Amino acid sequence: MASGNESGTFWMPPQSSTIAGDVDALFEFIYWLNVIFFLMIAVGTVWFAIKYRRRHEGQLATSQVAHNTLLESLWTFIPLVLVLAVFVWGFRVFLDQSVAPENAYEVRVKGEKWSWTFTHPGAAVPKVNILDVPPPGTPTKLVMSATDVLHSFFIPEFRVKADVIPGRYTTLWFEPTRPGTYQVFCTEYCGTGHSDMLAKVVVHPTMESFNKAVTGGGTLPEGMTPVAWGEQLYTELTCNACHSLDGSRKVGPSFKGIWGTQEPLEGGGTALVDENYIRESILDPNAKVTAGYPAAMPTFKGRITDAQIDALIEFIKAQK
Ligand code: CUA
Repeated sequence: MASGNESGTFWMPPQSSTIAGDVDALFEFIYWLNVIFFLMIAVGTVWFAIKYRRRHEGQLATSQVAHNTLLESLWTFIPLVLVLAVFVWGFRVFLDQSVAPENAYEVRVKGEKWSWTFTHPGAAVPKVNILDVPPPGTPTKLVMSATDVLHSFFIPEFRVKADVIPGRYTTLWFEPTRPGTYQVFCTEYCGTGHSDMLAKVVVHPTMESFNKAVTGGGTLPEGMTPVAWGEQLYTELTCNACHSLDGSRKVGPSFKGIWGTQEPLEGGGTALVDENYIRESILDPNAKVTAGYPAAMPTFKGRITDAQIDALIEFIKAQK
């Protein structure tokens, strides 16, 4: 269960879930098994090559020994036991990983090119790329599906990973061992924005801060300007996967200098890039697509608040 390796090793990031220690123990076992057998075989090969090399003319090229029952039994039986041990051990860890505890906090997860949307029970708005979970002691279960292509949800520090598939549900659960913020990766190649398909798991230190985060959010954080918040949202909502700030071409048009321009539209005509155009493009991305770009943007309807849209508008305005 919960184990103490909180700083990580050369191979592994810190262990931050109840199952991480079990996964790592199995990994270490298989790893050292491989090291030992590799050395035995490699050293043996070299040793025999030297020991039994042909020394003089007329010497027989091969050994006359054809059979050794004891040796053959041993090199069948010992690996069999090891392989069975790895199977039984692995299967137990796999079952532990697969079956979520009854009392788990359940969150719906949607994977979509190129963001993660989390629907927390009781929350007003789903959160994009931020998963809030209760403090250590409460397990969290994720019920996941994709809307477009295969994705995979991976939290290295928790040692949990599962494919996220269109048209069906997969689940994953974890129980964190300490509060903090943990990185989520998409680990199934899903297009140009794959490496930007990142999210954070926030393990709250108390139920108070957890409840506050789940029910709150979606409004301008205290002490932050709309532009600064818009900049944060630009990364959090993975706008950055498709829209650059330096004028370079990505999946969508760059935000640099776009404010106030007349954008040529796919199918003819132009649109003035103002508050209404940006708002429409966030909520109904395919209504007015810029000429020369694919209609690839997912809608943020129901996943973004008006305050967040306002902040993004202010941020885009500021990209001169
Ligand atoms: Cu989603 Cu890679």
